[in-house]
Amino acid sequence: MKKVTLLFIGLAFAACTGPQEVVSSPDGNVQVSVGLTSKGAIQYSVDFNGKEVIGSSTLGFDFAEAEDLLDGFELATVDVKEVSDAYTMQWGSNTELSYTHTEATFNFTHVPTGRTLGVVFRAANDGFAFRYLIPEQEEGQLVVKDEKSEFNLSEDAMAHWIPGDWEIYEHPYNHTKVSEIDALSKANHPNLAATVIVENSVSTPVTFEYKDGTHMSIHEAALVNYSGMTLLREGKTGFVSSLVGREDGNKATIPTPFKTPWRMVTLGDEATDLLASHLMYDLNEPNQMGDISQWFTPQKYVGIWWEMHMGKSTWDYGMTQDMGTWIADGREHGRHGANNENTRRYIDFAAEHGFSGVLVEGWNTGWEHWIGFDDREGVFDFVTSYPDYDMAELQKYAKSKGVSLVMHHETSAAPRTYDQQMDTAYALMQANDIHLVKSGYVGPLLPKGEYHHGQWMVNHYNNAVTKAFDYQIAVNTHEPIKGTGLERTWPNWVAREGARGQEFNAWSIEKGNYVDHIPTMAFTRFLSGPMDYTPGVFQLHMKSGPDGDNRVRSTIGQQFGLYIVVPSPIQMACDLPENYEKHLDWLQFIKDVAVDWDRSIPVAGKVGQYVAWARTPKENDNWYLGAANADGEHQLSIALDFLEEGATYEAQIYRDADDADWETNPYAVTIETKTYVKGDSFDVRLASGGGFGAILVKQ
Ligand code: NOJ
Ligand code: CA
Repeated sequence: MKKVTLLFIGLAFAACTGPQEVVSSPDGNVQVSVGLTSKGAIQYSVDFNGKEVIGSSTLGFDFAEAEDLLDGFELATVDVKEVSDAYTMQWGSNTELSYTHTEATFNFTHVPTGRTLGVVFRAANDGFAFRYLIPEQEEGQLVVKDEKSEFNLSEDAMAHWIPGDWEIYEHPYNHTKVSEIDALSKANHPNLAATVIVENSVSTPVTFEYKDGTHMSIHEAALVNYSGMTLLREGKTGFVSSLVGREDGNKATIPTPFKTPWRMVTLGDEATDLLASHLMYDLNEPNQMGDISQWFTPQKYVGIWWEMHMGKSTWDYGMTQDMGTWIADGREHGRHGANNENTRRYIDFAAEHGFSGVLVEGWNTGWEHWIGFDDREGVFDFVTSYPDYDMAELQKYAKSKGVSLVMHHETSAAPRTYDQQMDTAYALMQANDIHLVKSGYVGPLLPKGEYHHGQWMVNHYNNAVTKAFDYQIAVNTHEPIKGTGLERTWPNWVAREGARGQEFNAWSIEKGNYVDHIPTMAFTRFLSGPMDYTPGVFQLHMKSGPDGDNRVRSTIGQQFGLYIVVPSPIQMACDLPENYEKHLDWLQFIKDVAVDWDRSIPVAGKVGQYVAWARTPKENDNWYLGAANADGEHQLSIALDFLEEGATYEAQIYRDADDADWETNPYAVTIETKTYVKGDSFDVRLASGGGFGAILVKQ
């Protein structure tokens, strides 16, 4: 095989300068053509279903000290083989996954310097990917000024994007043509404690719709010891990779030999194909931690959290915080949320309703000096409680009721302070039998000149997770680096934020997330793995926000749907116990919904419009359906062809009432029971901004 290919390549290269070697997916629908331009730049283009989706795009590197590797290449060898694997995920949408890809490794010689560069391409039925193989260098390491990987779309497709911010992903999503992307117009959003947008680039995953219905999403897989990739607009319909930077103007320093993260493009005939793809996991390394189910199980949790975002209580103990305004009297002000009594109340609520965890934010010292301060090093203390909080006693109390505290570590984006305390902080958790931590990185990153999404922080985030494993701890990172599928390798990285969460509903200047937020994230952010979105608000109107009238722009029906639509092995029920106690009939859905899935099917969806999933859990043969809808009502018909032949299912349906809509009648819910068999159509009306959740119990 290898010899034949080489001969073919040799002839082809002698004859022309267009694309030469075609790497085909097993089903032939994805064809990646790789060759050299007339200047000897590495170039590729991609056809999907016989139509070009990515036109001639070049690959290469701009180095700070070594000579650039941009053109002047010759092809030395190419090795084509089939790679396939079957593997088990510890948790997630699908437990058993398998794939077959065509892999072609190209080795190029850079003629002017005699150096070599490898590029591995994978063609899969659901997309393609490539990564660079940088061989060992005499200098040992290389300083990357930038990676120059182009993605030239073949048309001015519709793009669903957020800016390529170096500090944060918590921007509202935008829907524009590629040519109309204007990331710089999103700079300095007042709700973002840290935001750095330096150029007209977008974050990944970024999703595109072509005129013929083809859907494409560009992202990366296995981001290790490198900077996050943004995509800089180039030409009318193209992008070139632009890595997140650092103070000296360079983008990364890599040891050699080095494999870059995979640059990954998912392709489908329709939007739901993107959701069915597991290319990101296929490209990651196998599980290196073994079975962690002894100490981590997917779970639902409640917590002392929403009350602070709504301003009912505070994280800090000794001052009054009003989102940036401080009254420093140094004494207990009596509004501290994380106190013993309140925590016991949440523990009791969790125990009564079957929640496994109670997150408590604001339990440790340092909150008097977080948002809005430059000098945040050495402020947070991850082992010292405020005087009104007895962690060991509370955890003992929780355990006696079959519940556990969920730890919280807000670093205020001072990761060096966190690093110094990480071992003691994790050890304290282990000593108290606490196995889940939510970490946070709010604020402009310290040290100045490093950024949340740069290489230095990628290494911090990854290290926080691998170290946590040593203490039997699972991690839920907020203000994180984006997900790139590393949870296949490190299954204790159970969730992250990495997009606008529910919290923005409580205080954002837009008075809440836009109504299309979930049906957009379903096809963008959620492609990068679990999100701790914290669903389950029952009191949709708040007295918080700039004018005291923020709200959740959804119906209650959609809050049910989120438990199915948002991928995560940990799901919060974020509202206050008193709001749940008013609606025990609605709460029943959150109590009954599963979190540990065996198999999941994206059954309907259009980017930014609506999305619906069907999932079956590990513990039984029931099916759970859920959907979220944007503006305008939508009639959904789900073909129940995944049900078991011959079985009858009784469905508990929690849906929008017939006259519900998010603007004027969001609380109107209908709870009903219906019977279904395989092949039936599950018909449900989604209200404007609505949704539903349903549990189909096999009889
Ligand atoms: C931001 C997180 O996203 C939020 O959930 C948390 O409450 C605050 N930081 C405080 O840590
Ligand atoms: Ca956040």
